Amino acid sequence: MNNHEIAELARDYLMPTYGPPEIAFVRGEGAKLWDADGKEYLDFVAGIAVCGVGHSHPRLVKTICEQARRIMHTSNLFFIEPQARLARKLADISFAERSFFCNSGAEANEAAIKLARKWALHNLAAGQRTIVTALKSFHGRTLTTITATGQEKYQKSFLPLPPGFRYVEFGNIEALTGAVDDKVCAVMLEPIQGEGGINVPDEDYLADVRSLCDDRGILLILDEVQTGLGRTGRWFGHEHWGIEPDIMTLAKSLGGGFPIGACLAKGDVATTFEPGDHASTFGGNHLACTTALEMVSIIEDEGLVERAAEMGALLTERFDALAEDMHEIDHIRGEGLLLGVELGVERAAEVAAEALDGGLVINAIGTNLLRLAPPLTITEEECERAVEMIVEAIGRLD
Ligand SMILES: Cc1ncc(COP(=O)(O)O)c(C=O)c1O
Repeated sequence: MNNHEIAELARDYLMPTYGPPEIAFVRGEGAKLWDADGKEYLDFVAGIAVCGVGHSHPRLVKTICEQARRIMHTSNLFFIEPQARLARKLADISFAERSFFCNSGAEANEAAIKLARKWALHNLAAGQRTIVTALKSFHGRTLTTITATGQEKYQKSFLPLPPGFRYVEFGNIEALTGAVDDKVCAVMLEPIQGEGGINVPDEDYLADVRSLCDDRGILLILDEVQTGLGRTGRWFGHEHWGIEPDIMTLAKSLGGGFPIGACLAKGDVATTFEPGDHASTFGGNHLACTTALEMVSIIEDEGLVERAAEMGALLTERFDALAEDMHEIDHIRGEGLLLGVELGVERAAEVAAEALDGGLVINAIGTNLLRLAPPLTITEEECERAVEMIVEAIGRLD
């Protein structure tokens, strides 16, 4: 089937939740993609920060095929060796001591919210169950995670929402301090807001948030679904600020394209759930966890955390220089390979469409931001080429 035929079939049979351009990718290798008409692209979206080791990494493909031949799924009615091994691996590379596995970022956040509330049941006053989140945050599309998400556009068609959430401006410690009263059991934030516009907080913010949570005896939940696993040039985003959360969620890059999410915790929070409190049929099955274990190993073996930092610095340098010369480019922000190029013109969607036409996949957020989130395996040459292609795309605007 060609691009058009696939698009027609999708339009006829899928619920119209998405509105993509008439392009269907059918093959990928590293940072390259090919569509159903045979056109080649350079991928600077990586499946929305999912394909951390690039498309169809040979080690990942081999691991998935071998595990699929051996055993894929047995349910959590029985112990699963790769699940236990993955939990140990995540404990080795992070602050956390224990993990719960599920299938997506939203589910990981649902688990984190339930975990915080159950911990509050044992440790805080009755009625102290509210979770404070940030405006412009994004935590997923289930009913509870759109409620955690501080953006009305995701909530307004689905009222009534579950109670127990309140919102404050991201990066404003005074606002947060004012919102944390005797009803609050946890603060939930992304260390860098992704969907909300690659918003990086000031140097002191997350340390101040940590201190506030400690002073009030409440939990800090960090949603690292987008920032985790090397994306920002550190294993986890919070490492940039030298703090640790009580609970952290992961998904996206953990499976490199294979669906898996995780909710991680330390201390007594990590032992709060008891049998029957939470579960998932598919969560943490043999295939998902073996894949995630291989993902983490590839990131380690190929030094991709360091590479993300280096390539991010290179892209930042290039766009800083371009911002001096071109009024269409205002500035670049972000960490590692989670970058936002803010345009000086309100034409992000047009630039992204032109770039796609020229063979570069980038993502527009709002009216003036381009999100760059290439695979962590991206080369210097590919970064230079992407910068050229964005400049060319801007040059083709009328
Ligand atoms: C920070 C963050 N949290 C949660 C999610 C939701 O993840 P999923 O789409 O896997 O449910 C996303 C997705 O973009 C995200 O960026």
